[in-house]
Amino acid sequence: MSEWNWTETVAGREVLGVLATLDPTAAGTIERCRKLADPETVRRALALTEARRRARGKIDDADALLLDRTGVEQSTSTDVARYKARRFRALGIDRVVDLCTGIGGDAIGFALEGITPVLVDLNPARLESARHNVAHFLGADPPIDLADVASLPYPDVPFHFDPDRRPQGKRTWRYLDILPGPETFDARIATGQPGALKLGPGVDFEDLPAGEYEVIQRGRGLVQVVVWIGPLAEVPRRATWLDGDTIHSFSGEPESLPIGAPAAFLHIVEPAIERLDLLGTLARTHGLHAAHGHSGFLLGDQAAESPWLHPMPLLATLPARIEDVRRWLKEHDGGVVKVRARGGDDGSAWEKSLRGKGAARFTVHLTREGKKRRAWIT
Ligand SMILES: C[S@@+](CC[C@H](N)C(=O)[O-])C[C@H]1O[C@@H](n2cnc3c(N)ncnc32)[C@H](O)[C@@H]1O
Repeated sequence: MSEWNWTETVAGREVLGVLATLDPTAAGTIERCRKLADPETVRRALALTEARRRARGKIDDADALLLDRTGVEQSTSTDVARYKARRFRALGIDRVVDLCTGIGGDAIGFALEGITPVLVDLNPARLESARHNVAHFLGADPPIDLADVASLPYPDVPFHFDPDRRPQGKRTWRYLDILPGPETFDARIATGQPGALKLGPGVDFEDLPAGEYEVIQRGRGLVQVVVWIGPLAEVPRRATWLDGDTIHSFSGEPESLPIGAPAAFLHIVEPAIERLDLLGTLARTHGLHAAHGHSGFLLGDQAAESPWLHPMPLLATLPARIEDVRRWLKEHDGGVVKVRARGGDDGSAWEKSLRGKGAARFTVHLTREGKKRRAWIT
């Protein structure tokens, strides 16, 4: 019996129906399910219901899909997957081999943008769920291949590759830690087909293969780095921000960061820009500068107009001594204070200590340049 056949049985359907309508965590609900099906079916139905709950807001139509929790965590959200699929589509590509397809997050994006994905994974349960999930959107079963991607399946088709990575729990990690290893990706590049390699947002750019490096931001979070290969590589680096229904893009090559004095406006910068080392490029585009190399914000005499920049009047720059900052806030009727800290300061401890009784709200930006620590108040 395959991993998901139980979802087609009468008992399986009934239990899923109960879990979809009643609180799945309530003891009464579980008891009711146990009357309908054997313990294994109830366990599987609970796991599927939980995976669907986690997928809502990330994957379209999650409640109609076959999912597992890890598969959902590793998957690409439907909006990001569609965005990437459109980049293939713009080159006239209508078939893509989706290497390491997982539960089919990326493949769903291809299907929704009119591209037939060929699904490849060596985990049979995942592959079966991906087939079901893609068929839900495509209206027909997609081609599938239960195979190790190291055997180079479909070498003559444009590709999307989303490897696992060695578990290590760090935010920053190396390309050399992908599973299957970089040699599998090198062999794929050698086919000469256009393609994309999806990596975690914290990957070190140092060892990456040549191509366009794109960082995708979804809302406030960085979700993935994509290395685009062949004609899909259009610019050296690109920041893409899915901001609700709007997609912002900024591209270029890393440039040195202009350094200068405090100015009338402090601009907070969206994280994708800094992740790509495009802060200098963005600063030069808008005639801005930074206080020093890693202050994390940009300064300028005028408020710049860009979705990537959030200007706010700079009211004061002080040495970052908590008594001085507290005095300034008191003199200016400060109440609720938000602290943005960099370089090891504990922002929440500062926030607690600076909370005042006044009506005005301020943000304190703490920076550290060698021994010089400063507080920038906006
Ligand atoms: C990061 S997930 C893919 C997520 C997918 N792109 C999505 O959006 O849902 C990685 C998948 O690679 C599969 N995998 C790992 N090593 C593989 C190999 N050598 N060959 C084929 N599949 C592999 C795993 O089974 C897992 O499902």
